Amino acid sequence: MVTKIATDTPPSRIAVLISGSGTNLQALINACNTPRLPHAQIVLVLSNRKAAYGLTRAATANPPIPTAYLGLPPFLRDNPGATRADYDLAVAREVLKVRPDVLVLAGWMHIVSEGFLEVMQGGRALSPLLSPENKGEDAGEQGEPRVTREIPVINIHPALPGQFDGANAMERGFEAFQRGEVDRLGVMVHRVIAEVDRGAPIIMREVEVHKGEDLKNDYEPRMHRTEWDIIVEATKLVLDEVRPISNR
Ligand code: GRF
Repeated sequence: MVTKIATDTPPSRIAVLISGSGTNLQALINACNTPRLPHAQIVLVLSNRKAAYGLTRAATANPPIPTAYLGLPPFLRDNPGATRADYDLAVAREVLKVRPDVLVLAGWMHIVSEGFLEVMQGGRALSPLLSPENKGEDAGEQGEPRVTREIPVINIHPALPGQFDGANAMERGFEAFQRGEVDRLGVMVHRVIAEVDRGAPIIMREVEVHKGEDLKNDYEPRMHRTEWDIIVEATKLVLDEVRPISNR
């Protein structure tokens, strides 16, 4: 059976947070409006690093994808008294502006705070501290409207569930394999919860690894190719949940 997508309805909206080279972002860009990610559009790429090459990938995509830069150090400098949690809410504000159906963390090298996730889930409004001017009629107690439909937040992580949480997971995993401490490695896309890299996996995939091979030349390219597949597949799975084909 061929499932037809109603193209008179607006495309699914994907927002992406990055910090670096953006090869996973590129995989999403390439997949948009192909059978792998039909009727979908990346509506924002936000980076916490100004020099992230992913911003260039987005700006030079066809059609160009809107980009934003919001760095933590300049934010804290420009908002005396603000905290890391305030920064996350400022990121949330940029994300909410583009009304995404899903938020993909594609190499976002920050741990997201609970407040950020609560905003995405619709459990709390944004803090008025950061937008005193914005107090609409349907605003929540704290000043801004809440999201009415949860925006799922998903993350790509270069390890299997529960294996190597946190930063440098690929390197730590590879070294552990070479020492004989683990016998398999892989990558996953998971739902983001406050506990780092512990949210429910959406897709996990083992990556071939061999004793004595080189991390940079052998394992890493193989690992990335697997990431580029599963980030697209997981984004599609989540979009299919929040915007079933018949509604697109
Ligand atoms: C990926 O390997 C991801 O697993 C890790 O950061 C890397 C980002 O790569 N968290 P890129 O910016 O998508 O090329």
